[in-house]
Amino acid sequence: MNRSVLLVPLLLAGLAFATGDPRGWSEGQPAANSAAFKSQPEIGEIELPKAFTKTLTGPTLLVYFSPTCPHCRHVAPELGELAKSIEGRAELVMVASSSSTDAALTEWKATFGGSYRIIVDGDREIGSAMGIRSTPSALLVKPAGRKVSVLDAYYPFTPGYSSLVEMRLADFPFQAFAPGEYQGTAACSACHTQEAEAWALSHHSIAWRTLVLDEEHENRECTDCHVTGAGQPTGWDGTEGSHLVNVGCESCHGPGGPHDGTKTSARSTCEGCHDAKHSIAFSYEKGLPHLDHFRANGMSDEDFRAARQSLGDGTAPRPLLAFGAGKNVGAEACKECHADEHAQWAASPHASAMARLDETQQADASCVRCHATATESGPPPTDLTHFRTDDSVGCESCHGPGEQHVAEGGGKDNIEGLGEDCPVCVIEAVCTGCHTAEWDKTWDLDTKLPKAGHDG
Ligand code: HEC
Ligand code: HEC
Ligand code: HEC
Ligand code: HEC
Ligand code: HEC
Ligand code: HEC
Ligand code: HEC
Ligand code: HEC
Repeated sequence: MNRSVLLVPLLLAGLAFATGDPRGWSEGQPAANSAAFKSQPEIGEIELPKAFTKTLTGPTLLVYFSPTCPHCRHVAPELGELAKSIEGRAELVMVASSSSTDAALTEWKATFGGSYRIIVDGDREIGSAMGIRSTPSALLVKPAGRKVSVLDAYYPFTPGYSSLVEMRLADFPFQAFAPGEYQGTAACSACHTQEAEAWALSHHSIAWRTLVLDEEHENRECTDCHVTGAGQPTGWDGTEGSHLVNVGCESCHGPGGPHDGTKTSARSTCEGCHDAKHSIAFSYEKGLPHLDHFRANGMSDEDFRAARQSLGDGTAPRPLLAFGAGKNVGAEACKECHADEHAQWAASPHASAMARLDETQQADASCVRCHATATESGPPPTDLTHFRTDDSVGCESCHGPGEQHVAEGGGKDNIEGLGEDCPVCVIEAVCTGCHTAEWDKTWDLDTKLPKAGHDG
């Protein structure tokens, strides 16, 4: 996905608004009712077939579609709802592409119902006036004599965009924000472009995809922290097609952000998802620096694409999953209290991983990095003196530094237990730090964990 796809050219986005220091996290009052939004410019005019223009009575959302196009079918229910909710203020007209067959249109009506007009663009005149390149695309227009003026464009029209239409139809956008109602990240992005770009570079923006890749997106034990507003009346509706999948703006800022009249303290929300089982030693202070809302500012398109790509291919860093600071004291120090685990580990390939390397390789930190345990937590050392090569892949490669745990004679809170309730969130990240695609092509947690845990 490139930047321009994430940020469709929306007129709202062009509006200047008064801000304080754009780089500071602000604690000020939200700007609902801001005068800045009262006068909204228009994009321009287009000319539609005369006979069609005559049928337009006021603001009209023209949605160009093809009844068989999957993206169109995907937004069809949302458009049906929108037609109803804007009734009296604007009309929704569905313009079917010239290739639409009668049978397909009949099927569409039977499947989706919809209290809107459907016309067929037989000679492609409307499509060409609208400048259509793909479906579904939409223009919000208003008759202006023989021509129509264009109020806003949604190319393509994607789930969640009805909020944008509602905002455009309102006298000022925040009027469209009902108290406690989730709008979706697209609605926020219309104005907050820099936050939206930064968000698109965060793991929050791919949280749903992560579940899909794991084939766990239908597992309700997993979904709720990977979507927005789960369990709330207007929050995520439990479907894959919802515009509220992923951890969107409103996961942290609450429904409607501050613009519905209530301000949520974003910092109080993290631990609802980043609990002890799903993040290693999480704290707001540890998390916040990695949530930079201004990260994309000044980034070249190329760097932006590369950063987005690294999310997709799994190479983007996960700083929160780094172990807390401390020294690795070595497996010998654990033996006394954890004799069983020690015996199992000693018999496992991890305990002899250094033996896999020949003499030259044993002196090469770039190999030792994954075949031995560092002397303390943090980024992998680049010189040999900072590895416990006698340990090979020791206890602390998986459990984090044991210094404090051993000094205190045990306990659960000062060592990473690799919680069993949500293994993938933390355990897999620990393993795949070494079991990379390059070194382990057949990686699969379900088959490898039993062989490496302490049961086998
Ligand atoms: C129509 C434009 C617009 C839309 C849409 C919009 N905002 Fe805002 N938002 C603003 C403006 C203007 C401010 C005030 C900017 C400032 O004071 O720095 C603001 C401020 C904020 C603040 C900071 C408030 C504070 O007190 O520091 C948050 C958080 C926020 N918006 C979240 C959201 C979320 C979440 C959404 C989507 C549900 C959203 N906004 C949609 C224009 C918009
Ligand atoms: C609705 C649940 C939810 C909330 C609320 C939430 N997160 Fe997350 N966060 C996640 C999920 C899920 C991921 C991992 C997504 C993925 O990789 O697929 C994540 C990933 C992250 C990451 C990147 C991964 C890493 O290891 O570095 C950071 C940083 C982060 N969250 C910080 C925060 C902070 C700070 C807050 C509060 C201001 C917060 N999150 C609130 C669910 C949430
Ligand atoms: C209580 C909230 C919560 C629940 C429930 C939850 N997750 Fe997560 N998940 C998170 C958070 C938070 C992160 C981010 C961890 C981090 O990077 O710090 C995450 C990250 C992940 C990751 C990315 C880890 C990586 O390194 O690749 C995967 C995969 C994942 N979760 C899968 C699942 C699955 C599968 C389930 C259901 C068994 C599940 N999650 C249930 C909160 C949750
Ligand atoms: C993971 C949680 C999280 C997500 C997701 C998130 N934010 Fe924020 N946001 C924060 C935190 C934390 C702050 C710091 C202010 C605070 O302490 O309340 C903040 C601050 C802001 C501010 C005020 C500072 C500024 O940027 O001018 C705005 C506006 C804002 N967020 C908008 C957004 C928008 C728009 C999105 C979605 C594109 C978004 N946020 C997504 C957590 C989040
Ligand atoms: C990113 C981590 C990582 C690095 C760096 C790494 N290895 Fe490995 N290595 C592994 C993992 C994981 C396995 C186990 C693969 C499996 O599951 O079979 C492994 C297995 C091996 C094996 C035994 C299995 C085989 O493929 O023959 C040898 C030999 C080996 N590595 C040599 C090396 C050498 C030489 C280097 C330096 C050039 C090196 N490794 C660097 C992670 C790494
Ligand atoms: C390859 C990673 C890995 C290494 C190395 C490792 N462990 Fe574990 N350990 C795990 C995982 C994963 C779990 C979670 C439970 C399970 O899957 O067996 C675990 C669980 C535990 C538990 C909790 C016991 C329980 O059943 O709940 C203890 C104690 C423990 N390990 C101690 C050790 C000690 C001591 C060593 C070194 C002698 C060690 N581990 C080496 C991965 C590892
Ligand atoms: C003096 C005894 C002692 C030593 C030495 C010791 N532990 Fe523990 N460990 C404990 C106790 C006690 C518990 C808590 C057991 C419980 O509550 O079920 C524990 C729990 C654990 C757990 C499970 C934590 C959880 O959240 O479930 C892990 C993992 C672990 N130890 C790893 C290690 C490692 C690795 C070492 C060596 C660096 C080590 N321990 C050394 C006594 C010790
Ligand atoms: C510090 C790096 C490192 C970590 C962390 C790590 N491994 Fe390994 N693992 C290795 C290396 C290196 C080998 C190869 C050892 C050998 O062949 O002697 C290996 C071998 C294995 C093997 C035996 C070979 C195979 O693929 O069947 C299994 C199973 C395994 N690891 C599973 C895991 C699991 C599960 C985790 C996470 C709980 C994990 N490993 C964490 C480095 C690591």
